[in-house]
Amino acid sequence: MAPIRIGVIGAGFIGRVHLKQFGQIAGVELAGVTDASAALAEAAAADAAAAADAGSGGLTVFASADDMIASRDVDAVVVAVPNRFHAPLTVAALAAGKHVLVEKPMALDGASAREIYTAARDSGLTVMVAHQMRWLPPVLEAKRMVDAGELGEVYNAKCGMMRRKNIPGWGSWFTRMGESGGGPMIDIGVHVLDMAMWLLGDPKPVSVFGSTYAKFGPHKRGTGSWGTPDWNGVFDVEDLATAMIKMDNGSTLSLDVSWAVNTLSDNSHFVDLMGTDGGASIRGNRLVFTGQKFDRPFDVEVDAKAGDDARSLLARHFVESIRSGSTPISDAMSGLVNNTILDSIYKSARTGKAVELDWSFL
Ligand SMILES: NC(=O)c1ccc[n+]([C@@H]2O[C@H](COP(=O)([O-])OP(=O)(O)OC[C@H]3O[C@@H](n4cnc5c(N)ncnc54)[C@H](O)[C@@H]3O)[C@@H](O)[C@H]2O)c1
Repeated sequence: MAPIRIGVIGAGFIGRVHLKQFGQIAGVELAGVTDASAALAEAAAADAAAAADAGSGGLTVFASADDMIASRDVDAVVVAVPNRFHAPLTVAALAAGKHVLVEKPMALDGASAREIYTAARDSGLTVMVAHQMRWLPPVLEAKRMVDAGELGEVYNAKCGMMRRKNIPGWGSWFTRMGESGGGPMIDIGVHVLDMAMWLLGDPKPVSVFGSTYAKFGPHKRGTGSWGTPDWNGVFDVEDLATAMIKMDNGSTLSLDVSWAVNTLSDNSHFVDLMGTDGGASIRGNRLVFTGQKFDRPFDVEVDAKAGDDARSLLARHFVESIRSGSTPISDAMSGLVNNTILDSIYKSARTGKAVELDWSFL
Protein backbone atom coordinates (compact mmCIF):
# COMPACT_ATOMS: atom_id res chain seq x y z
CA MET A 1 0.00 0.00 0.00
CA ALA A 2 1.38 3.42 -0.95
CA PRO A 3 2.21 5.60 2.05
CA ILE A 4 0.08 8.66 2.77
CA ARG A 5 2.39 11.66 2.43
CA ILE A 6 1.55 14.32 4.98
CA GLY A 7 2.79 17.91 5.03
CA VAL A 8 2.41 20.18 8.06
CA ILE A 9 1.70 23.90 7.62
CA GLY A 10 2.89 25.70 10.76
CA ALA A 11 5.88 24.67 12.88
CA GLY A 12 4.70 26.25 16.13
CA PHE A 13 3.50 24.37 19.21
CA ILE A 14 0.80 22.25 17.64
CA GLY A 15 2.51 21.79 14.27
CA ARG A 16 5.37 20.08 16.08
CA VAL A 17 2.89 17.85 17.95
CA HIS A 18 1.39 16.72 14.62
CA LEU A 19 4.84 16.04 13.15
CA LYS A 20 5.59 13.83 16.14
CA GLN A 21 2.26 11.96 15.97
CA PHE A 22 2.20 11.35 12.23
CA GLY A 23 5.89 10.42 12.30
CA GLN A 24 4.96 7.41 14.45
CA ILE A 25 2.22 5.98 12.24
CA ALA A 26 3.03 3.09 9.96
CA GLY A 27 2.07 3.81 6.36
CA VAL A 28 2.54 7.56 6.77
CA GLU A 29 5.42 9.48 5.29
CA LEU A 30 6.22 12.95 6.60
CA ALA A 31 6.44 14.82 3.31
CA GLY A 32 7.50 18.17 4.69
CA VAL A 33 6.84 21.21 6.77
CA THR A 34 6.50 24.93 6.17
CA ASP A 35 6.24 28.00 8.37
CA ALA A 36 6.22 31.76 7.90
CA SER A 37 9.50 31.55 9.82
CA ALA A 38 11.95 29.49 7.73
CA ALA A 39 14.14 28.95 10.80
CA LEU A 40 11.25 27.37 12.73
CA ALA A 41 10.42 25.14 9.77
CA GLU A 42 14.07 24.02 9.40
CA ALA A 43 14.34 23.20 13.10
CA ALA A 44 11.03 21.31 13.17
CA ALA A 45 11.98 19.35 10.04
CA ALA A 46 15.31 18.32 11.57
CA ASP A 47 13.69 17.26 14.85
CA ALA A 48 10.90 15.36 13.08
CA ALA A 49 13.34 13.51 10.82
CA ALA A 50 15.39 12.51 13.85
CA ALA A 51 12.34 11.27 15.77
CA ALA A 52 10.44 9.54 12.94
CA ASP A 53 10.79 5.86 12.12
CA ALA A 54 14.18 4.94 10.72
CA GLY A 55 14.18 4.99 6.96
CA SER A 56 11.61 7.77 6.64
CA GLY A 57 14.32 10.03 5.23
CA GLY A 58 14.53 13.79 5.49
CA LEU A 59 11.63 16.19 5.32
CA THR A 60 11.29 18.84 2.64
CA VAL A 61 11.11 22.38 4.00
CA PHE A 62 8.67 24.09 1.68
CA ALA A 63 9.15 27.82 1.09
CA SER A 64 5.44 28.51 1.63
CA ALA A 65 2.09 26.88 2.30
CA ASP A 66 1.20 27.52 -1.36
CA ASP A 67 4.27 25.54 -2.49
CA MET A 68 3.35 22.64 -0.24
CA ILE A 69 -0.27 22.66 -1.40
CA ALA A 70 0.86 22.66 -5.05
CA SER A 71 3.32 19.80 -4.56
CA ARG A 72 2.60 16.46 -6.24
CA ASP A 73 4.52 14.77 -3.42
CA VAL A 74 1.93 15.62 -0.76
CA ASP A 75 -1.40 13.77 -0.28
CA ALA A 76 -2.68 15.53 2.84
CA VAL A 77 -1.88 18.68 4.81
CA VAL A 78 -2.26 19.61 8.44
CA VAL A 79 -3.26 23.26 8.90
CA ALA A 80 -1.62 24.30 12.17
CA VAL A 81 -1.37 28.08 11.90
CA PRO A 82 -3.31 30.95 13.51
CA ASN A 83 -7.08 30.74 13.10
CA ARG A 84 -7.52 33.37 10.39
CA PHE A 85 -5.51 31.24 7.93
CA HIS A 86 -7.50 28.03 8.50
CA ALA A 87 -10.22 28.61 5.90
CA PRO A 88 -8.09 30.03 3.05
CA LEU A 89 -5.47 27.29 3.41
CA THR A 90 -8.03 24.48 3.80
CA VAL A 91 -10.02 25.61 0.77
CA ALA A 92 -6.84 25.99 -1.32
CA ALA A 93 -5.61 22.54 -0.27
CA LEU A 94 -8.94 20.93 -1.19
CA ALA A 95 -8.89 22.68 -4.58
CA ALA A 96 -5.45 21.11 -5.14
CA GLY A 97 -6.81 17.64 -4.26
CA LYS A 98 -5.30 17.34 -0.77
CA HIS A 99 -7.02 15.88 2.28
CA VAL A 100 -6.95 18.25 5.26
CA LEU A 101 -6.63 17.96 9.02
CA VAL A 102 -7.38 21.49 10.23
CA GLU A 103 -6.69 22.70 13.73
CA LYS A 104 -9.49 23.98 15.91
CA PRO A 105 -11.44 26.19 15.56
CA MET A 106 -12.15 24.95 12.04
CA ALA A 107 -12.48 28.58 10.91
CA LEU A 108 -12.38 32.12 12.22
CA ASP A 109 -16.17 32.47 11.97
CA GLY A 110 -19.34 30.88 10.62
CA ALA A 111 -19.00 32.43 7.14
CA SER A 112 -15.52 31.00 6.57
CA ALA A 113 -16.57 27.69 8.15
CA ARG A 114 -19.29 27.53 5.49
CA GLU A 115 -16.63 27.96 2.78
CA ILE A 116 -14.76 24.96 4.18
CA TYR A 117 -17.93 22.90 4.53
CA THR A 118 -18.94 23.59 0.90
CA ALA A 119 -15.44 22.93 -0.45
CA ALA A 120 -15.20 19.70 1.54
CA ARG A 121 -18.60 18.48 0.37
CA ASP A 122 -17.86 19.27 -3.28
CA SER A 123 -14.36 17.78 -3.23
CA GLY A 124 -15.22 14.43 -1.70
CA LEU A 125 -11.87 14.61 0.12
CA THR A 126 -11.33 14.01 3.83
CA VAL A 127 -11.62 17.10 6.04
CA MET A 128 -11.25 16.59 9.75
CA VAL A 129 -11.09 19.10 12.60
CA ALA A 130 -8.40 18.39 15.20
CA HIS A 131 -10.60 17.84 18.26
CA GLN A 132 -8.40 15.43 20.20
CA MET A 133 -10.55 15.71 23.34
CA ARG A 134 -13.13 13.39 21.77
CA TRP A 135 -10.43 10.71 22.01
CA LEU A 136 -9.81 11.00 25.76
CA PRO A 137 -10.65 7.69 27.53
CA PRO A 138 -13.44 9.12 29.79
CA VAL A 139 -15.04 10.85 26.79
CA LEU A 140 -14.97 7.66 24.70
CA GLU A 141 -16.54 5.72 27.58
CA ALA A 142 -19.22 8.38 28.18
CA LYS A 143 -20.02 8.26 24.46
CA ARG A 144 -20.38 4.48 24.66
CA MET A 145 -22.78 4.87 27.61
CA VAL A 146 -24.92 7.41 25.75
CA ASP A 147 -25.02 5.37 22.54
CA ALA A 148 -25.88 2.19 24.48
CA GLY A 149 -28.85 4.02 26.05
CA GLU A 150 -27.46 3.59 29.59
CA LEU A 151 -28.35 7.19 30.51
CA GLY A 152 -31.82 7.07 28.95
CA GLU A 153 -32.88 10.35 27.35
CA VAL A 154 -30.14 12.95 27.86
CA TYR A 155 -32.10 16.18 28.04
CA ASN A 156 -29.69 18.64 29.66
CA ALA A 157 -25.92 19.07 29.75
CA LYS A 158 -23.36 21.45 31.16
CA CYS A 159 -19.81 21.80 29.98
CA GLY A 160 -16.90 24.15 30.29
CA MET A 161 -13.35 24.89 31.30
CA MET A 162 -12.71 27.61 33.84
CA ARG A 163 -9.05 28.57 33.76
CA ARG A 164 -8.36 30.91 36.67
CA LYS A 165 -5.18 32.67 35.52
CA ASN A 166 -4.15 31.54 32.08
CA ILE A 167 -4.49 34.22 29.39
CA PRO A 168 -2.23 32.87 26.61
CA GLY A 169 0.31 35.07 24.81
CA TRP A 170 -1.06 38.43 25.97
CA GLY A 171 -0.99 40.84 23.01
CA SER A 172 -0.08 38.11 20.47
CA TRP A 173 -2.43 36.63 17.85
CA PHE A 174 -4.22 34.75 20.64
CA THR A 175 -5.71 37.97 22.09
CA ARG A 176 -6.27 39.87 18.84
CA MET A 177 -9.83 39.46 17.57
CA GLY A 178 -8.87 39.84 13.89
CA GLU A 179 -6.46 36.90 14.07
CA SER A 180 -8.03 34.55 16.60
CA GLY A 181 -11.74 35.33 16.23
CA GLY A 182 -12.20 35.52 20.02
CA GLY A 183 -10.86 34.66 23.46
CA PRO A 184 -11.42 31.54 25.62
CA MET A 185 -14.70 30.71 23.88
CA ILE A 186 -12.96 30.15 20.56
CA ASP A 187 -9.72 28.87 22.11
CA ILE A 188 -10.95 26.28 24.63
CA GLY A 189 -14.76 26.59 24.48
CA VAL A 190 -14.50 25.20 20.96
CA HIS A 191 -13.13 21.93 22.39
CA VAL A 192 -15.68 21.41 25.16
CA LEU A 193 -18.54 22.48 22.90
CA ASP A 194 -17.41 19.97 20.26
CA MET A 195 -17.09 17.24 22.87
CA ALA A 196 -20.49 17.93 24.46
CA MET A 197 -22.32 18.13 21.12
CA TRP A 198 -20.79 14.80 20.08
CA LEU A 199 -21.77 13.20 23.39
CA LEU A 200 -25.32 14.51 22.92
CA GLY A 201 -25.49 12.79 19.52
CA ASP A 202 -25.01 15.95 17.40
CA PRO A 203 -28.48 17.45 17.88
CA LYS A 204 -29.44 20.41 15.71
CA PRO A 205 -28.92 23.70 17.64
CA VAL A 206 -31.76 26.18 17.12
CA SER A 207 -31.22 29.02 19.59
CA VAL A 208 -28.23 30.54 21.39
CA PHE A 209 -28.04 33.05 24.24
CA GLY A 210 -24.70 34.22 25.62
CA SER A 211 -22.63 36.88 27.37
CA THR A 212 -18.93 37.67 27.24
CA TYR A 213 -16.74 39.68 29.63
CA ALA A 214 -13.22 41.16 29.60
CA LYS A 215 -12.40 42.03 33.21
CA PHE A 216 -8.77 40.88 33.46
CA GLY A 217 -7.17 40.97 29.98
CA PRO A 218 -7.52 44.71 29.28
CA HIS A 219 -5.59 45.37 32.53
CA LYS A 220 -2.86 42.81 31.72
CA ARG A 221 -4.06 40.72 34.67
CA GLY A 222 -4.78 36.98 34.64
CA THR A 223 -1.92 36.13 32.29
CA GLY A 224 -0.49 32.60 32.14
CA SER A 225 2.62 30.84 30.93
CA TRP A 226 1.17 29.68 27.60
CA GLY A 227 2.24 31.43 24.37
CA THR A 228 4.69 34.30 23.91
CA PRO A 229 3.39 37.65 25.15
CA ASP A 230 3.77 40.88 23.21
CA TRP A 231 3.33 43.57 25.84
CA ASN A 232 3.00 46.25 23.14
CA GLY A 233 0.28 44.18 21.50
CA VAL A 234 -3.52 44.23 21.74
CA PHE A 235 -6.12 42.47 23.90
CA ASP A 236 -9.54 42.95 22.31
CA VAL A 237 -11.20 39.58 23.05
CA GLU A 238 -13.20 38.25 26.03
CA ASP A 239 -11.64 36.55 29.05
CA LEU A 240 -14.89 34.83 30.17
CA ALA A 241 -17.94 33.66 28.26
CA THR A 242 -21.17 31.94 29.24
CA ALA A 243 -23.90 30.59 26.98
CA MET A 244 -26.98 28.43 26.68
CA ILE A 245 -27.81 26.49 23.52
CA LYS A 246 -31.24 25.00 22.80
CA MET A 247 -31.60 22.05 20.41
CA ASP A 248 -34.47 21.16 18.11
CA ASN A 249 -35.16 18.03 20.19
CA GLY A 250 -35.80 20.23 23.25
CA SER A 251 -32.49 19.45 25.00
CA THR A 252 -30.25 22.19 26.35
CA LEU A 253 -26.51 22.69 26.77
CA SER A 254 -24.85 25.36 28.89
CA LEU A 255 -21.24 26.32 28.39
CA ASP A 256 -18.88 28.32 30.63
CA VAL A 257 -15.28 29.12 29.79
CA SER A 258 -12.62 31.49 31.03
CA TRP A 259 -8.96 32.32 30.70
CA ALA A 260 -9.04 34.35 33.92
CA VAL A 261 -11.65 34.32 36.68
CA ASN A 262 -12.12 34.23 40.43
CA THR A 263 -13.92 30.97 41.14
CA LEU A 264 -13.23 27.51 42.54
CA SER A 265 -11.88 25.51 39.61
CA ASP A 266 -9.09 23.03 38.90
CA ASN A 267 -8.73 24.61 35.42
CA SER A 268 -9.62 21.40 33.60
CA HIS A 269 -12.60 20.60 31.37
CA PHE A 270 -15.91 19.30 32.68
CA VAL A 271 -19.06 17.83 31.14
CA ASP A 272 -22.26 16.83 32.95
CA LEU A 273 -24.72 14.76 30.95
CA MET A 274 -28.13 14.49 32.62
CA GLY A 275 -30.29 11.61 31.46
CA THR A 276 -33.57 10.08 32.59
CA ASP A 277 -31.89 6.79 33.61
CA GLY A 278 -28.51 8.11 34.71
CA GLY A 279 -25.95 10.84 34.40
CA ALA A 280 -22.30 10.94 33.36
CA SER A 281 -19.95 13.57 34.73
CA ILE A 282 -16.48 14.12 33.31
CA ARG A 283 -13.93 16.04 35.41
CA GLY A 284 -10.62 16.00 33.56
CA ASN A 285 -9.64 12.32 33.44
CA ARG A 286 -12.41 11.24 35.87
CA LEU A 287 -15.74 9.81 34.79
CA VAL A 288 -18.56 9.33 37.30
CA PHE A 289 -21.89 7.64 36.62
CA THR A 290 -24.73 9.13 38.69
CA GLY A 291 -28.05 7.42 39.32
CA GLN A 292 -30.89 6.76 41.77
CA LYS A 293 -31.88 3.43 43.32
CA PHE A 294 -33.74 2.36 46.49
CA ASP A 295 -34.97 5.95 46.82
CA ARG A 296 -31.38 7.23 47.02
CA PRO A 297 -28.96 8.97 44.68
CA PHE A 298 -25.64 7.16 44.11
CA ASP A 299 -22.37 7.72 42.23
CA VAL A 300 -20.10 5.15 40.59
CA GLU A 301 -16.53 6.03 39.63
CA VAL A 302 -16.01 4.56 36.17
CA ASP A 303 -12.56 3.19 35.45
CA ALA A 304 -11.78 5.06 32.24
CA LYS A 305 -8.43 6.66 32.87
CA ALA A 306 -6.14 4.43 30.84
CA GLY A 307 -6.08 4.34 27.08
CA ASP A 308 -4.08 5.29 24.05
CA ASP A 309 -2.94 8.89 23.74
CA ALA A 310 -5.79 11.06 22.42
CA ARG A 311 -3.64 12.93 19.89
CA SER A 312 -2.27 9.65 18.56
CA LEU A 313 -5.81 8.24 18.17
CA LEU A 314 -6.86 11.42 16.37
CA ALA A 315 -3.95 11.19 13.91
CA ARG A 316 -4.67 7.51 13.26
CA HIS A 317 -8.38 8.24 12.69
CA PHE A 318 -7.45 10.85 10.08
CA VAL A 319 -5.24 8.34 8.24
CA GLU A 320 -7.90 5.60 8.45
CA SER A 321 -10.56 8.01 7.15
CA ILE A 322 -8.40 8.85 4.13
CA ARG A 323 -7.68 5.18 3.43
CA SER A 324 -11.28 3.99 3.81
CA GLY A 325 -12.99 7.08 2.37
CA SER A 326 -15.29 7.15 5.41
CA THR A 327 -16.34 10.39 7.06
CA PRO A 328 -14.21 11.24 10.10
CA ILE A 329 -16.07 11.75 13.39
CA SER A 330 -15.07 15.43 13.64
CA ASP A 331 -15.93 16.33 10.06
CA ALA A 332 -16.47 19.71 8.36
CA MET A 333 -20.17 19.64 9.31
CA SER A 334 -19.30 19.40 13.00
CA GLY A 335 -16.86 22.30 12.52
CA LEU A 336 -19.56 24.36 10.81
CA VAL A 337 -22.03 23.74 13.64
CA ASN A 338 -19.35 24.63 16.17
CA ASN A 339 -18.33 27.87 14.43
CA THR A 340 -21.97 28.86 13.94
CA ILE A 341 -22.68 28.43 17.65
CA LEU A 342 -19.56 30.42 18.57
CA ASP A 343 -20.58 33.25 16.19
CA SER A 344 -24.03 33.25 17.74
CA ILE A 345 -22.66 33.46 21.28
CA TYR A 346 -20.64 36.54 20.30
CA LYS A 347 -23.62 38.02 18.47
CA SER A 348 -25.93 37.41 21.42
CA ALA A 349 -23.34 38.99 23.74
CA ARG A 350 -23.29 42.11 21.53
CA THR A 351 -27.05 42.44 21.06
CA GLY A 352 -28.27 41.14 24.40
CA LYS A 353 -30.78 38.94 22.55
CA ALA A 354 -31.07 35.25 21.79
CA VAL A 355 -29.93 34.27 18.27
CA GLU A 356 -32.17 31.91 16.28
CA LEU A 357 -30.15 29.68 13.95
CA ASP A 358 -31.15 29.18 10.33
CA TRP A 359 -29.95 25.92 8.75
CA SER A 360 -32.06 26.23 5.59
CA PHE A 361 -28.94 26.66 3.42
CA LEU A 362 -27.88 23.04 4.04
N1 LIG B 1 -5.82 20.98 19.32
C1 LIG B 1 -5.25 21.64 20.31
O1 LIG B 1 -5.27 21.24 21.47
C2 LIG B 1 -4.50 22.92 20.03
C3 LIG B 1 -3.54 23.37 20.93
C4 LIG B 1 -2.87 24.55 20.61
C5 LIG B 1 -3.17 25.24 19.44
N2 LIG B 1 -4.13 24.78 18.62
C6 LIG B 1 -4.48 25.51 17.39
O2 LIG B 1 -3.40 25.37 16.49
C7 LIG B 1 -3.22 26.58 15.75
C8 LIG B 1 -1.80 27.07 15.96
O3 LIG B 1 -1.59 27.28 17.36
P1 LIG B 1 -0.12 27.18 18.00
O4 LIG B 1 -0.32 27.15 19.48
O5 LIG B 1 0.66 26.11 17.35
O6 LIG B 1 0.45 28.62 17.58
P2 LIG B 1 1.94 29.04 17.43
O7 LIG B 1 1.94 30.53 17.43
O8 LIG B 1 2.83 28.28 18.36
O9 LIG B 1 2.36 28.51 15.95
C9 LIG B 1 1.78 29.02 14.78
C10 LIG B 1 2.86 28.99 13.69
O10 LIG B 1 2.25 29.34 12.45
C11 LIG B 1 3.20 30.11 11.70
N3 LIG B 1 2.44 30.82 10.68
C12 LIG B 1 1.62 31.87 10.83
N4 LIG B 1 1.04 32.17 9.65
C13 LIG B 1 1.50 31.26 8.75
C14 LIG B 1 1.25 31.05 7.36
N5 LIG B 1 0.39 31.81 6.67
N6 LIG B 1 1.93 30.05 6.74
C15 LIG B 1 2.80 29.28 7.41
N7 LIG B 1 3.08 29.45 8.73
C16 LIG B 1 2.42 30.42 9.37
C17 LIG B 1 3.88 30.96 12.74
O11 LIG B 1 5.13 31.43 12.30
C18 LIG B 1 4.00 29.99 13.91
O12 LIG B 1 5.24 29.31 13.91
C19 LIG B 1 -4.30 27.54 16.23
O13 LIG B 1 -5.39 27.47 15.37
C20 LIG B 1 -4.68 27.00 17.60
O14 LIG B 1 -6.03 27.30 17.94
C21 LIG B 1 -4.78 23.62 18.89
